[in-house]
Amino acid sequence: MLTKKVEDLCNRQIEREGYSSNLYLAMAAWAESSGMAGIAAWLYKQSDEERVHMLRFIGYVNERGGSVTVPAFRQPPEKYNGVLEMFREVLKHEQFITGSINEVLAGAIAENDYATTNWIQWFVKEQLEEESSAQLILDKLELAGAAGLYFLDRDIMALRG
Ligand SMILES: [Fe+2]
Ligand SMILES: [Fe+2]
Repeated sequence: MLTKKVEDLCNRQIEREGYSSNLYLAMAAWAESSGMAGIAAWLYKQSDEERVHMLRFIGYVNERGGSVTVPAFRQPPEKYNGVLEMFREVLKHEQFITGSINEVLAGAIAENDYATTNWIQWFVKEQLEEESSAQLILDKLELAGAAGLYFLDRDIMALRG
């Protein structure tokens, strides 16, 4: 059984992964409506992956005999001040999520919950990749500038390994 503290941390993470999914969905819709089909496709895919992260937490809480809370998600912003600023938000958000995963891990360690300590390692590794892919795109956007955005938008999906 999960302790109450670890269960609460997992439920908090369910909310955060679900919000991440909606945030990237909103960003995807904005990018699509702004003529950036490639960046939109990248963000739609990212949104799907965040939903899978949420499902992983839901499955894990149930597997450990805990109780899952699916929350109401707050509404993400509809408009973004350009693609560069949007990807700065993506990176900042992923850094926040990394901190949040680390808190789940720290909570599990404090409760002597070795199963969760072990299980969450997948997310520790995933967050390394998430931060580095957001940083990669941000670097490329900065290099590309407005003139290069057309080409980056065309090629962005190739950056997904
Ligand atoms: Fe995630
Ligand atoms: Fe993420």
